[in-house]
Amino acid sequence: MSALHKDAAIAVIGAGAMGAGIAQVAAQAGHPVALYDTREGAAAQAIAGIAKQLGKRVDAGKLDAAERDAVVARLTPAARLEDLAGSALVVEAIVENLEVKRGLFAQLEAICGDDCILASNTSSLSITSLAATLKRPERVAGLHFFNPAPVMALVEIVAGLASDKAITDCLYATAKAWGKKPVHTKSTPGFIVNRVARPFYAESLRLLQEGASDCASLDALLRDAGGFRMGAFELTDLIGHDVNYAVTCSVFNAYYGDFRFQPSLIQKELVDAGRFGRKSGRGFYDYAEGAERPAA
Ligand code: NAI
Repeated sequence: MSALHKDAAIAVIGAGAMGAGIAQVAAQAGHPVALYDTREGAAAQAIAGIAKQLGKRVDAGKLDAAERDAVVARLTPAARLEDLAGSALVVEAIVENLEVKRGLFAQLEAICGDDCILASNTSSLSITSLAATLKRPERVAGLHFFNPAPVMALVEIVAGLASDKAITDCLYATAKAWGKKPVHTKSTPGFIVNRVARPFYAESLRLLQEGASDCASLDALLRDAGGFRMGAFELTDLIGHDVNYAVTCSVFNAYYGDFRFQPSLIQKELVDAGRFGRKSGRGFYDYAEGAERPAA
């Protein structure tokens, strides 16, 4: 099946780190994009953030001002879910919680037209389970971007047990048309990337907990000797500990408590303290203006 036409209306739900990034990718590909968030003002704020980011590229001579304006003009904050009724594709990027996502998908099923594809950016939750309570589970699939979505090429196209192949093929072709490198996967806990990445986070956290070294040294080692772009502590600070911890818990539970995926108490402490990482100004490191890293 071919990609969605670039005039097709896209809706993104959740204007956080991922939703904003996905909205930007779709708008850059030429789609009109509506962005919705239950947090008042969040969608407009996210669009302003995208405009600011693109403005930096204009200043650096990497993007035409006219192109920036065109991308920003294609982004609209939506005041109500009902405003998304005419969408060809809805991408959900809200909190990593199955019941909350299921509630949203039930609402979307009632609002969106029969041809609308309902996609989730979930990192780990079962697409099969997410779709199971809907009347038409076949139009649900995972469209899993990585952070930051405008930069990272990989996108996992996740098929649940009921997902229609025509839908996953369309998402694959659409992600490709958006300049991404899609990969098909089945809905296993954590899919591919979050499955293989779990030991990377877990062993780093265990090393820290055992006092082997501090997070800055461990990050430097993973970067310099391991060849990773980021160490586990700077990466989880970027992802957000609320999100990363929820994903670990979800994978751990889905594999019936397999020790390899056991969540870390150190990370739980950060979540309990509201130290979510970059987005809250502090995680393993301190991002407050003028702060010397690391804080942990
Ligand atoms: P975030 O916390 O930055 O943003 C979530 C947004 O969703 C918030 O603005 C919140 O107000 C909004 N929201 C919550 N419930 C809502 C609802 N019922 N309706 C509308 N909006 C609602 O989270 P982030 O990092 O953007 O993650 C979102 C999803 O993407 C999660 O499922 C996460 O697992 C997944 N993901 C996260 C990645 C990351 O590195 N942070 C990478 C890939 C996927």
